[in-house]
Amino acid sequence: MACLDKQSDDLVFFVNGKKVIERKADPEELLLYYLRKELRLSGTKYGCGVGGCGACTVMLSTYDPVVKKIRHHPANSCLLPICSLHGAAVTTVEGVGSIKNRINPIQERLAKCHGSQCGFCTPGMVMSIYALLRNHVKPSMEQIISALDGNLCRCTGYRPIIDSYASFAKEQTCCQLRGTGQCCLEQEELGCSSSAGVRIRSGLCNPAEFLPVDPTQEFIFPPELMRMAQEQQGKTLIFCSKRTTWISPSSLKELLELKAKYPKAPLVVGNTSLGLNKNDCDAYHPIVLHPLRIPEMQVVSITDDGIVIGATCCLAQLRDILIETIPKLPEEKTKIYQALLQQLRTLAGEQIRSMASLGGHVVSRGSAWDLNPILCAGKSVLNLASDGGKRQIFLDDQFLAGHKHADIEPKEVIVSVLIPYSTKDEFISAFRQAERQKNAFSIVNSGLRVLFSPGTDTIVDLSILYGGIGSTTLSARKSCEKLIGRQWNDQMLSEACKLVLEEISLPPSASGGKVEYRRTLLVSFLFRFYLEVLHGLHQMYPFRYSELSQDKMSALGVLQSGVPQGVQLYQDVDPGQSPQDPVGRPIMHQSGIKHATGEAVFIDDIRPVDGELSLAVVTSIKAHAKIKSIDISEALQVPGVINVVTAKDVPGKNGNDEEEAFAKDKVICVGQIICAVVAETLTQAQRGAKKVKIVYEDLQPVLTIKDAIEHNSYITEERKLEKGDIEKGFKSADKIIEGELHMGGQEHFYLETNSVLVIPRMEDKEMDVYVSTQHATDVQKLVASALNLQSNKIMCHTKRVGGAFGGKITKPSFFAVIAAVAANKTGRPVRFALERNMDMLITGGRHPFFGKYKVGFMKDGRIIAADFQCYINGGCTKDESELVIEYIVLKVDNAYNIPNLRVRGHACKTNLPSNTAFRGFGFPQAGLFVETCIVAVATKTGLPHEKVREINMYRGVNRTAFKEEFDAENLWKCWKECLDKSDYHSRNAKVEEFNRKNYWKKKGIAIIPMKFSVGFNATYFHQAGALVHIYLDGSVLVTHGGIELGQGIHTKMLQIASRELKIPLSYIHFCETSSTTVPNGKYTAGSVGTEINARAVQDACQILWKRLDPIRRKNPKGKWEDWRLCDKHGLGNKERPCIPIFSLWSCLF
Ligand SMILES: Cc1cc2nc3c(=O)[nH]c(=O)nc-3n(C[C@H](O)[C@H](O)[C@H](O)COP(=O)(O)OP(=O)(O)OC[C@H]3O[C@@H](n4cnc5c(N)ncnc54)[C@H](O)[C@@H]3O)c2cc1C
Ligand code: FES
Ligand code: FES
Repeated sequence: MACLDKQSDDLVFFVNGKKVIERKADPEELLLYYLRKELRLSGTKYGCGVGGCGACTVMLSTYDPVVKKIRHHPANSCLLPICSLHGAAVTTVEGVGSIKNRINPIQERLAKCHGSQCGFCTPGMVMSIYALLRNHVKPSMEQIISALDGNLCRCTGYRPIIDSYASFAKEQTCCQLRGTGQCCLEQEELGCSSSAGVRIRSGLCNPAEFLPVDPTQEFIFPPELMRMAQEQQGKTLIFCSKRTTWISPSSLKELLELKAKYPKAPLVVGNTSLGLNKNDCDAYHPIVLHPLRIPEMQVVSITDDGIVIGATCCLAQLRDILIETIPKLPEEKTKIYQALLQQLRTLAGEQIRSMASLGGHVVSRGSAWDLNPILCAGKSVLNLASDGGKRQIFLDDQFLAGHKHADIEPKEVIVSVLIPYSTKDEFISAFRQAERQKNAFSIVNSGLRVLFSPGTDTIVDLSILYGGIGSTTLSARKSCEKLIGRQWNDQMLSEACKLVLEEISLPPSASGGKVEYRRTLLVSFLFRFYLEVLHGLHQMYPFRYSELSQDKMSALGVLQSGVPQGVQLYQDVDPGQSPQDPVGRPIMHQSGIKHATGEAVFIDDIRPVDGELSLAVVTSIKAHAKIKSIDISEALQVPGVINVVTAKDVPGKNGNDEEEAFAKDKVICVGQIICAVVAETLTQAQRGAKKVKIVYEDLQPVLTIKDAIEHNSYITEERKLEKGDIEKGFKSADKIIEGELHMGGQEHFYLETNSVLVIPRMEDKEMDVYVSTQHATDVQKLVASALNLQSNKIMCHTKRVGGAFGGKITKPSFFAVIAAVAANKTGRPVRFALERNMDMLITGGRHPFFGKYKVGFMKDGRIIAADFQCYINGGCTKDESELVIEYIVLKVDNAYNIPNLRVRGHACKTNLPSNTAFRGFGFPQAGLFVETCIVAVATKTGLPHEKVREINMYRGVNRTAFKEEFDAENLWKCWKECLDKSDYHSRNAKVEEFNRKNYWKKKGIAIIPMKFSVGFNATYFHQAGALVHIYLDGSVLVTHGGIELGQGIHTKMLQIASRELKIPLSYIHFCETSSTTVPNGKYTAGSVGTEINARAVQDACQILWKRLDPIRRKNPKGKWEDWRLCDKHGLGNKERPCIPIFSLWSCLF
């Protein structure tokens, strides 16, 4: 669509205090991509693209010329159209602080308190807290925690992150370390552990060293933008590209005229609903209206009927208004507001709450949206306007169901929402159940309201609404009608449950699954409401209605998680250790500050290189099918598309012996890569990919473990392990139990999606491959073999990986092949950074598991025989499944010595994306399985779980089922220490007491031993190499074969080098892991990456140290600085050049 009849305006906003003028602003462009690609500010990260992870958080500051106020709030830049930023000031992590200029205390504290591991989420964390501190210089702990609601971290765990920021809180928090009476914040020594005499410490950093907070150093809101907002109050703003026109009217009248002219044009406010469909072709809008400057739509007024909230007010504003208003009103008038507030506390994260508008929430009517059920139950009214005039409609169930007669007209807009006061005889409650308390869509939510005839419990009006069940909020209208006139008693409740379950239909095949659970929630919410109302009636009329019994009272109230408390203890170094020796000390992550300032470079942060192309893949939509044809002709016509790459373009081997890089004749799972489109930009490549036409011929798929067993479809032979005499064991057992365990899979969700940048060199067909991988050698090997080259032509580089967890061992090699083949075909550099949805579609994760057990045990809880059958769903190729099932078979005994044991393991072959290595590598499945048996035995014998665990734990020196000698001394030490330190028994007693008193609410506590062996069964994987250079100025460069996945491997290598060479850490640098410096590295996994590489670094440094002997002998009192220049010591001559003396490659086995 051309730009209406008017020229496009200049889009003006500020980023980090600098003015940005975009003369050709594209309404479809989102801030995240603009920052990263146009402004080269790559500190703001892409993690999910749909507002869910917070990695892209920035702070937005806007000025309202009417009320003359500046508002600062966090926002997800992945959902923010740049055109919505006219007149705004954006602060990114680079603007908060940088190593070059000045780091901000927020960045410093996060790094020093070990709040980052891979560092990919870290800039987002910094920005969320930065926005909070701009609004509240001394926030409460509750505010700090809630500011981080929308930020996910996959590596670090939230304790160190929250600990880092506790120092900004107005109240001091303390770990309350049990029994010591000391606080972790005090950094005190915590005494000796009696047995080994080791010193245990807590407190990983010294708060006294923190930079002070200085708000005067922050950017002020640009006065120019205030002037601009003032001057442009009456001006319509238009921004247009070839495809889309963005119009920001300045008055309601103008908006209504535009809506009449373009009834299909959406009103984009937060873009948190519309923006979720951006990859959907049908979601294309040629005209977009932006109503954020319309005063009537921002109104907040307290009227006789209730509170009127402008439709463009965001949900955070709504929350703040309610928090402010509720205490000022009589309690009986606030019941709907309290219910809304309850939902607003857990709805999404602070970024989404600060962007999403009330009007957008109401109109988009998502099934799981939490406010609509209450707004509807509370009889809210929508104030509508169009060019034909104004009207009011109820936000009722007919509106929510989208019935035409009750809906808004295409040319109408919601100007505001009237949320009425409640009355004395009215009760309103809200409920939601999600997978976690915050930042997760509800599985089911509900808004319930009852109105009684005054002074009685006779129902006059009743509303029951549920979200998360159908495609929008559903009402149990008929059930409610039938219950009118009934008393509020147990008979009414039984009837209500029956009616609701009949009316709110949830067939077994309902989309979203969890049918049984969701049906249970329907009734649970109703039951809780019933009790809440009974309790309310008693409080109002204590003589007429009796109080709930203690049992029933326990169903009331919201579960509060409170401020998390935790403490990390670590073994201190020997008091005699040199203060300069950093080994064993809690050194900050080598990249910690860079993580926090956004200066740490991940693959997709590498600046575009000359001639670079972007790549998007076309994947199979069939689980199992023949490929009849691939038509790329339309894709090639898309502007910007350079080429389409298929299996035919692979000059060498298309993958490895087990897995194809490009599917050739057949697809074996949904998400399998068939071909790739390369274009000048990613958007063009994606548009091209959508135009590739593939014809399939369906084949029968095998999807589940059950299917695979039926079809005898396995990846490998059965793995079997036997110990003792199983049959005899069962015969002598007092009792035998049998059971099953089903366990689903798991997504890796490394925050950095798979990314690769391939740059062909000018000579000898060499290629540089920058790749996010745990296994650079495999990438090198597979790319070389695909291009029919020797490995020595492929240079792999990995500086750091934004989380991997096993998911980046095998798959990145295939992504690198795809990009390398495209680079080879086009002769140009190719970038392939997967979008989250593609990454999740293409890659597998943790293996789903099915286990059958038969366990024979004695009355005292001793397990004397166990027969285990274990199955995993390996997916469509072998990948690591053979090893995973072996690991399960070997480790399923966990910490228990079962004298007669048989374990059989099967890796099923199905048409799912291939499952692969995943944190724990089969142990979580095996562990859960055997613990299920322990719990079953405890239940049968009536013994406490921990007693059954203890009685079956290994003791003394034994042999495992696979004949490895195992001394249980440490197991028992650890068990006893955990029991003691956690105060397990007294906590358990408290839990039991709580559970006795609370029929409906339960607490749990468990202690589980774990025997987890690190490393690999094939010991040749325990090899490592290191290359250490000492330069003439005395500085040291350390390289090794391990890859930084966030575990801090490089930091530890530097600590080792520092100890061995006896120099401070500041002299030593690590640059990158590369196949050119340390060849043939094994994959960094199995919890041994640090140990094996450390040995190589240590070896190299020790040899170098020895080689320096002659120099040191000449100047024994000298320091490193005195020994560094070899010429000075006469060693750098023709006979013996100095350089080789100071570099050493070491390979350890
Ligand atoms: C990561 C994430 C997590 C979320 N979690 C939750 C959650 O836990 N609970 C929950 O309830 N919701 C949740 N949401 C949904 C969120 O509440 C809605 O997306 C949001 O309220 C929509 O508001 P918006 O301003 O962004 O709408 P937009 O996306 O800007 O617009 C949505 C639609 O509303 C229309 N519209 C907007 N304003 C008006 C108006 N005044 N008049 C007429 N039409 C209008 C637009 O035309 C468009 O069709 C989540 C969303 C995201 C992205
Ligand atoms: S929230 Fe924006 S990238 Fe995840
Ligand atoms: S450090 Fe948070 S995701 Fe890695």
